Amino acid sequence: LLRSDGKRREKLYKVLVIGDIGVGKTSVVKRYVHRFFSQQYRATIGVDFALKIINWDQNTVIRLQLWDIAGQERFGHMTRVYYKDAVGAFIVFDTTRGATFDAVAKWKKDLDQKVELPDGKLVPCVLLGNKCDQPRDSQTPEGTRMDQFLKENEFSGFFETSAKENIGIDQAARFLLSKIIEND
Ligand code: GTP
Ligand code: MG
Repeated sequence: LLRSDGKRREKLYKVLVIGDIGVGKTSVVKRYVHRFFSQQYRATIGVDFALKIINWDQNTVIRLQLWDIAGQERFGHMTRVYYKDAVGAFIVFDTTRGATFDAVAKWKKDLDQKVELPDGKLVPCVLLGNKCDQPRDSQTPEGTRMDQFLKENEFSGFFETSAKENIGIDQAARFLLSKIIEND
């Protein structure tokens, strides 16, 4: 149904993209927003921004502001500033490097300690296992072990992604947005 004034409502959502160094955060954002992938690694310094405009439904246009935060910032003092007013997050790990999965719970804790929704609820957070085009590190959990981890750490969902092969990213974004809209 169209609004009676015939106008579409515009929603601005700030979403964080966090996780360890080199897991592919910038690559996921570039794939999602610019439909582009590069093999070359250039570390993000501080934070990069991207804006994606989504025609969500007949009445709603979403301006999704993605804050792509450098992996090295987990050891810095800026995350509280970067996280401010976020309404959702992606935490990314690299399925080929188990150590990046070990850091996921630390990122999640950092997030939950520093940001909450206006009603005090946790911001919805989706876990991305990126580089699924490559052989998986057997140290990363699957199946019921992964389900247990997601539940214990209060993730809204989990998607395997590849920025290189364009797998899972649109689905993960749609899922997170649906959770954000539920809270709005
Ligand atoms: P920081 O900015 O340092 O925190 O790293 P990042 O998480 O932004 O990683 P980035 O996107 O720069 O990617 C790191 C490297 O992984 C680059 O060489 C990418 O080309 C590569 N990469 C990213 N995503 C994928 C993927 O899905 N598959 C494969 N095979 N390589 C990927
Ligand atoms: Mg980056």
